[in-house]
Amino acid sequence: MKRIAILTAGGDTPALNATIFGAVQRANQLRVELFGIIKGFGGLLNPQVPYVHLNPLFQGIPELDPTRGGTLLGASRDYVDSNDAETIAHVAERLKRMKVDGLLCVGGDGTVNGMQPLSECLPCVLAPKTIDNDLGLNYLDEPSEWYREPDDSSRGYVYKKRPGREFNLDEMVNYVTPGYATAVFVSAASVQRIRTTAESHRRIAIIEVMGRDCGMIALGTAYGQPDLLMIPESPVDPNALVAKVLATLDHQKHAVLVVSEGIVDTEGHILGAVSASKDPAGNIQYTGAAEAVKKLLAQRIGDAFFTRQRRNESADAAIFVRKVGHTQRGGRPIQFDRFWASQLGGHAVELLVDGLNNCMATLQYRDGGMVLDSIAANKVRDHWRIIHPRPLSPTLYDPASFQPSKKGIEYLRSIFSTALGADDLESQHSLFDTGHLIHHYDSVNVDVHKRIRRLDAPK
Ligand code: F6P
Repeated sequence: MKRIAILTAGGDTPALNATIFGAVQRANQLRVELFGIIKGFGGLLNPQVPYVHLNPLFQGIPELDPTRGGTLLGASRDYVDSNDAETIAHVAERLKRMKVDGLLCVGGDGTVNGMQPLSECLPCVLAPKTIDNDLGLNYLDEPSEWYREPDDSSRGYVYKKRPGREFNLDEMVNYVTPGYATAVFVSAASVQRIRTTAESHRRIAIIEVMGRDCGMIALGTAYGQPDLLMIPESPVDPNALVAKVLATLDHQKHAVLVVSEGIVDTEGHILGAVSASKDPAGNIQYTGAAEAVKKLLAQRIGDAFFTRQRRNESADAAIFVRKVGHTQRGGRPIQFDRFWASQLGGHAVELLVDGLNNCMATLQYRDGGMVLDSIAANKVRDHWRIIHPRPLSPTLYDPASFQPSKKGIEYLRSIFSTALGADDLESQHSLFDTGHLIHHYDSVNVDVHKRIRRLDAPK
């Protein structure tokens, strides 16, 4: 393997540059050239395939900073449709003209789908990333628990999952994905900041975190000590919710709730509006979970409850909603993400050099620590070849207390007890650098643009 192409696909995370950095380091050691495709699969769909040589003379380029969030290559949610043979043939031909011997895709489930058809044309390996921490399995045989049930939707069926089995944490495939730790760092800190307003003004704060159908980010947000955590895997029981909120108000005059964006009601319907728009990979955009919980609480508790106690003039005024939003997906990656993302990037290069194809570099939990491994990408697919988001196992969450279970605490502890480095705290000093007031933001896009090459037209 003399030349590898690398791309970053799907939504960005804080750890993408760290993954690319690890890939560059290992490629330099192995004397392999690394070409970075601009803007994910979108770059391969462009006949000119804009790309950057990431390790000229087997040295890294200064634009690649593993401590910066986002990706110097740019990302997109464009993907390659496995049924579109013509496009796949074009992409394969372009990679051939670039004299690329292997493709390293940094991404999540959508990226595995995009990579699969290309793996029939050249060796492909995935380095995982997603703040949602939902690319993986709770245990190897989990995909066999999915089944189809007829329904009246246009496709005529819906995927459902049989209840999972007990498992040990070291059975989890892809124990944790790069980007997750930093997202949790931000969301937990947000809870701490919002708490004091709720506390001072005797209000209910409902904080919405990302994660789509997986409650992992919400679970980790427990580090910010919210009073209640709500996850998509545990349907909202309005009676239990209202009882818990009232008990909390009774005790401390305010409450802080963390709501995962994909939470569902007891019929399995997503709470809040699901925007009609879909991204090109088919992902629905969730919005409105926290607003829906606010509405539910306002209706059930009523204005009189708040006015009686002279706390607020109405339920609407007493309950406020905040989304952590894209702040949890960006910025400087914390040490855990920096280290393991770069390890996974380097490992993915090794897997390609070792001749593997259509496989995924993984991070496993063994004997109390993390180790690198790999798995055939098809192992995460169900019988119908679908990759489902890894659900947060019900064994990690206690619906009665709305908090992580004992096993959930063990899971989080194994990731976060050493997740922050001294330099993470040190880096905060740079915020009030006077230079920030004088100089404009120096975007990596400007310098990377000057390095972009394009593929010549076919002869
Ligand atoms: O999958 C990552 C994620 O951040 C989800 O948690 C969230 O639902 C989605 O992407 C938001 O995507 P976008 O930034 O494209 O709206």
